[in-house]
Amino acid sequence: MYYSDEIIEEVRSRNDIVDVISAYVKLQKKGSSYFGLCPFHNEKSPSFSVSRQKQMYYCFGCGAGGNVFTFLMEYENYSFVEALRYLADRAGVDLPEQEYSEAERRRADEKAVLLEIHKRAAQFYYVQLKSSQGEQAMAYLRGRQLGDDTIKAFGLGYSSKFSNTLYQFLKSKGYADDMLAKSGLITMDEKHGPHDKFWNRVMFPIMDANNRVIGFGGRVMGDAKPKYLNSPETLIFDKSRNLYGLNRARTTRKSYFLLCEGYMDVISLHQAGFTNAVASLGTALTAGHASLIRRYVQEVYLTYDSDDAGTRAALRALPILKDAGITAKIIRMEPYKDPDEFIKNLGAEAFEERIEKARNGFMFSLEILEKDYDLKSPEGKTGFLNEAARRLGRFEEEIERNNYIEAVAEKYHTGYEELRRLVGKMAVREGLAKPVQRPKTAGAKEKEDGIRKSQKILLTWLVSDERIFGQIKDYISPEDFSDGIYRKAAGLLFQQYHDGEINPARIMNYFTDEEEHREVAALFHTRIEELTSEREKEKALMETVLRIKNHSIETATRNLEPTDMAGLQRLMEAKKELQDLKKLHISIN
Ligand code: CTP
Ligand code: MN
Repeated sequence: MYYSDEIIEEVRSRNDIVDVISAYVKLQKKGSSYFGLCPFHNEKSPSFSVSRQKQMYYCFGCGAGGNVFTFLMEYENYSFVEALRYLADRAGVDLPEQEYSEAERRRADEKAVLLEIHKRAAQFYYVQLKSSQGEQAMAYLRGRQLGDDTIKAFGLGYSSKFSNTLYQFLKSKGYADDMLAKSGLITMDEKHGPHDKFWNRVMFPIMDANNRVIGFGGRVMGDAKPKYLNSPETLIFDKSRNLYGLNRARTTRKSYFLLCEGYMDVISLHQAGFTNAVASLGTALTAGHASLIRRYVQEVYLTYDSDDAGTRAALRALPILKDAGITAKIIRMEPYKDPDEFIKNLGAEAFEERIEKARNGFMFSLEILEKDYDLKSPEGKTGFLNEAARRLGRFEEEIERNNYIEAVAEKYHTGYEELRRLVGKMAVREGLAKPVQRPKTAGAKEKEDGIRKSQKILLTWLVSDERIFGQIKDYISPEDFSDGIYRKAAGLLFQQYHDGEINPARIMNYFTDEEEHREVAALFHTRIEELTSEREKEKALMETVLRIKNHSIETATRNLEPTDMAGLQRLMEAKKELQDLKKLHISIN
């Protein structure tokens, strides 16, 4: 960052967040906050909140959150410096001359430079496509039935036949070789000099959820291999955390996403009006993808290729989606290979019908399983039902499990009660085969989540009611919070209290990327049950403090070196204090 903390804070404090956001979102006052429809995901009732007191926004639906800078970065797609300049201008603050040279700034903020390089590269490829050089590529895209609007919306482009035109172009804009190498778009070859990674390919810019280009895929126009070449992972491109088309899909009015495999599938679907399509781009779906999806929707329709590989990929994706709390359905593309070919041959209406006929993911997985058994023979059917029962046992919710048992019993002509008993039997057997392991790790995770929740509750309380600080400061310190963002945010907040001014929005300035802003905003916006009486509040506060302290002592005990006598002594004292604390009365007034 090349502006001082003071100037950043001045700009921030002179732009009231409610005023700034009101220009974009219709807000209504409700209690101490303002609420409106979230501009970052689809919703029908408002869960997007803006707090004048905290000078922060937070969406209880999708978790988007931050201060006034974050809002403009997310909404207007500004870089931090762009947001700063805009707000300085809005409030009439004169920004000082840049304190470092351009070259120094570049080094200081590599991510921003890589984003800039990608933006320029995408523009460059787009211009090439439209130039006479790009005629063949244009013809190729037309041959694939893409219209001008689609080409523009997805920013498709062309990388020329020469091996270093992009390099020359970026050099002329002043980028240093080392940054170009880090972008993954230029290969530095000692023998032959720098050359472009992509040449003579149709280019697909890959954008993040905020419309920023973070990588590219390039397709050959004929049958050469490899068919697609993709950007390597870089500082700004993490394949397991990005979905192609998400930048557009996230603003559609549908409650589910269509999840497919390829660039062209997404583009064809969008062109046909299915603007909720995204793709994981040839890589297997990861938990990172699933949690990204979960921010926007709770349901996914998988429209993977109809070949064996596609079916296997769909089967592997099902449990990953389930773990993230997403229900999945399967759409089959037969007799065509993928959504792109399906749409081209049968059109949008036929695809709509397939969506309506989508199959439940679990039932689909059983249909695939059927192929391994001869259901007409008694042994075959027994074997199949045993395996089905084993899988049914993995539904942890009883109601859900019973619903599935019912569906399976009906479909495969067997008694509900018998199947239910079989599921119970298989669950016991599974449990015996791998004792304790699963429940234990699951329990540990739940506990960890619970502790984090308590920490969030306390942080939210602290920023909402300063008096609480006075009550807890003798018992809780930033070290009692979990490693990483929690501890850092707590440290900054305690420091502010010490310095006499609680200012959560300023804390944001210490975190650099939007992902972190989102997490920090969540820390200060935990939903706390409406506790009506002061006594209830005091009791809840007391329990929260005890819980956090207890966990902190447990963790420290676990990490203590057996020979660390002084450390042991300190812990014993802390434990004793904790005992005393239990007798203590916290009072809010
Ligand atoms: N893919 C890749 N590299 C390859 C082949 C495929 O990265 N050599 C990725 C691409 O993201 C591609 C997706 O996997 O979009 C699906 O591959 P495939 O089904 O082979 O391609 P299609 O999307 O059908 O491509 P097209 O319609 O252009 O032939
Ligand atoms: Mn295809």
